[in-house]
Amino acid sequence: MKWFLLLGAVLAVSAVDRAKFRRCIDTAFCRRHREDKSLTDYKIVSNSLKFNDTALHAILKNKENSLVLDIVALKDSTIRLVIDEFEGKEARVRTRWQPLDALAKAEPEQQKIKKSEVGKEESWFETEDGHKVVVQHKPFRVDLYAKGTLVTTINSRNWLRFEHFRKGKKTKDGDGFWEEKWGDHKDMKPHGSSSVSVDIALLGFKMAYGLPEHSETYALRSTNNYEPYRLYNLDVFEYEINNPMALYGSVPYLAATNPRRTLGVLWLNPSETWVDYDISRADLGVVGKLVETEDERADRIPQINTRFISETGLIDVFFFLGPKPHDLFRQYSKLTGVTPVPPQFSLGYHQCRWNYKDEKDVREVIAKFDENEIPMDVIWLDIEHTDEKRYFTWDKEKFPEPKQMVEDVAKKGRKMVLIVDPHIKKDKNYTIYKEARKKGFLVKELGGKKTFVGNCWPQDSVYIDFTNPEARKWWSEKFALDKYEGTTEDVHIWNDMNEPSVFNGPEITMPKDLVHYDDREHREVHNMYGFYQHEATHNGLIQRSERKLRPFVLTRAFFAGSQRTAAVWTGDNAATWEHLKASIPMLLTLSTAGIPFVGADVGGFFKDTDPELLVRWAQAGAFQPFFRAHAHTDTKRREPYLLDENFRAAYKKAIETRYKFLPYIYTIFYEHSKNGKPVMRPHWLELVEDEVGYDEDRQWLVGNAILVKPTLEAGETRTSVYLPGKREIWYEFDTGKARPSPGAMQIETPIDKIAVFQRGGTIIPIREMDGPRASLAETKADPVSLYIGLNNRGDSANGTIYLDDGETFAYEKGEFAFWGFTFKKEHDYLFTITSKNLDKKGKLESEILIDKIYLRGVKFYPQTAHIYLDDFVPEDLPFEHDRDSQQIVISNVGAYLTKEWKIDLHG
Ligand code: NOJ
Repeated sequence: MKWFLLLGAVLAVSAVDRAKFRRCIDTAFCRRHREDKSLTDYKIVSNSLKFNDTALHAILKNKENSLVLDIVALKDSTIRLVIDEFEGKEARVRTRWQPLDALAKAEPEQQKIKKSEVGKEESWFETEDGHKVVVQHKPFRVDLYAKGTLVTTINSRNWLRFEHFRKGKKTKDGDGFWEEKWGDHKDMKPHGSSSVSVDIALLGFKMAYGLPEHSETYALRSTNNYEPYRLYNLDVFEYEINNPMALYGSVPYLAATNPRRTLGVLWLNPSETWVDYDISRADLGVVGKLVETEDERADRIPQINTRFISETGLIDVFFFLGPKPHDLFRQYSKLTGVTPVPPQFSLGYHQCRWNYKDEKDVREVIAKFDENEIPMDVIWLDIEHTDEKRYFTWDKEKFPEPKQMVEDVAKKGRKMVLIVDPHIKKDKNYTIYKEARKKGFLVKELGGKKTFVGNCWPQDSVYIDFTNPEARKWWSEKFALDKYEGTTEDVHIWNDMNEPSVFNGPEITMPKDLVHYDDREHREVHNMYGFYQHEATHNGLIQRSERKLRPFVLTRAFFAGSQRTAAVWTGDNAATWEHLKASIPMLLTLSTAGIPFVGADVGGFFKDTDPELLVRWAQAGAFQPFFRAHAHTDTKRREPYLLDENFRAAYKKAIETRYKFLPYIYTIFYEHSKNGKPVMRPHWLELVEDEVGYDEDRQWLVGNAILVKPTLEAGETRTSVYLPGKREIWYEFDTGKARPSPGAMQIETPIDKIAVFQRGGTIIPIREMDGPRASLAETKADPVSLYIGLNNRGDSANGTIYLDDGETFAYEKGEFAFWGFTFKKEHDYLFTITSKNLDKKGKLESEILIDKIYLRGVKFYPQTAHIYLDDFVPEDLPFEHDRDSQQIVISNVGAYLTKEWKIDLHG
């Protein structure tokens, strides 16, 4: 087992080996663009500017170059700007590759231009929804006005750069144009360098977020005198925190907010990209005069300067104009899609480790969870379960009867997840290799003839070319139950190493001059390689059940749009408190960039963890969308049942808490699929009026109602929390104690407690379990209680619940229920709680009963409570009222979740 030696050698190093990875200065196109601040002076060619119904079209020219410009009005306050090579006489050497598969629809819906004018110095148009685009002809600049306010300006620094593909080599083209070295690798560029860049400024904003994946603060930081944020999917071993180095995935999207408006920018380009970012003032740029108002001088208006630099591809930028945060999330998700409602089990607790050794080990782990009455929905198998890293196969000695094992695991409703990586062992007797090779589905070397062979877990490996639609189809078929031996519908899939990771490649990935389908160079498609793999896997899992069951796929590499077909985790973190902290901004950033189903390895992947850190991590993970414990093969076993009693009990309680909150979390996932809002939310999404919380990255909101602050320091049993919002009320979840906001406070958090608050004005459903549950499947009939946190006037609250069978696509045909709950003050002596069907297309009639109703923040004194069920005859309800803590608990409600009912509370 040679790789063990290799791994051992690498493990001796305690942090990332930075020398393996390029900095901007080591990268010819980045260095050139970044250092060159000369003005490029593009102008609109006279008479070239024209309008059609939905777009502006023009030719741009400077001394050396011609380009085509299209600015398109899209539906829902979205503007698209595209700059491409000129098509006229100077016919293109090659068309630029467009990553249209990243979009939910290749042709986003356009909207009509209402008014337009071609002028001498500038031309403009106004969209039907009231936004205006002004194009200055010379030098070329574009200003976007969101309903009269200038929010962004493109090329105001006059730095637009665009290198055309070329035919012949010209010596004057300069350094790194035709070839470039990195370590032992020489990158050949047969068509010359084709990089692009432009500056984009955001007006009126002092903070922006996004551009995953980096282990960085949530609010983006200035890159002045530092490295730009790098977007290049890489397998970074033991990544460092607080560093703009590229990690496993990329979404070239950022969002900015202020109390009045929000703005999003998507740079749709999957080649290597670097983003410079700086916070400045409007008076220091050229549009200062345009944003100044009578009330606000330009030197008071913040301006964010960005510059996007990509190795190749188009300049294709989308601007989302909000104005409110929820508008922005809808607009972005309309373009790149949402995560469909996941199968319910995938929101439970996942137990993973590299590796559960054999069938006996798997059975023992399951038995221990049962014995200790700890719920667990999924057990995972890492690479060692395969026959020498041949994916889709089993190590027959360790796993002689895999199907039986899966069936046994499934007895209590549990599932298994198996790893399937994109590298394929080069072995002429291995079917996957043989077929892929024969069909021409493998990535080729420069020149396009020889199959590329790299090194990965199986040693010599070839790589499936997932950019080829036929290869994707073929891959999808491999998940059919009669093809993938040992699997059943209870098996789901983990796509790892799909940046792709190539141990002996430049920066541990593929050489950029490799050749893909349709003669594309790897550099053109790099950041979408993993996207295509997990999409094909997702489709395969859907097909194997003939679109009956919902699939679960986890991926490490991702791009914009990955949310449609996979969940994402943050890769190889470490068992340190710093990594626990870093996971919060990383997950918030992913959530902001449209990927909601995200998590970090609970406990930390590298290094042995200590029980306190493990428990605190499990508490945080219980309130993060994807909740999986994982550990490196060299670490000591750390399953929760191995912990000493108090830690074990605390870990177990964290998992149980997750299962209790599951009806609420599931509902948020459903709502995400409708409105694009993530599950894990930054403060500004819900409480945009409170600027203090804008860069908060130690705590987060789950949906709109729950605030979570994990304990992030060793030995700490008091945790400080910031309660965001102006004049909100927050209820400490466990005690119901009310606290006003804004304000910071401390809360007691002994080892078995995490700080959780419910926002006033909300209602959330919580599952009541009267005994141990092995998995979510066993909670199906459990009743639900409603937690009502009244608003600060004590007169209203609202909430929702979504229900379906949790596993099939029947919800698409009406087998679901989406109901709302409202608490209302009718008059001084009458308060009501009512339920209402919010979507009549949902026909599901649930058997689930409401058990109790907890009211917090009660400022009245009820004498009686009655419930009206179907028959409209009031029935008395028992309740307890604690005047001091302003709480009421109504018990034995006995109403069905999906029936109309009404409760009167008489004062
Ligand atoms: C790298 C992944 O990030 C990690 O989670 C996994 O355990 C190893 N590959 C082995 O498959």
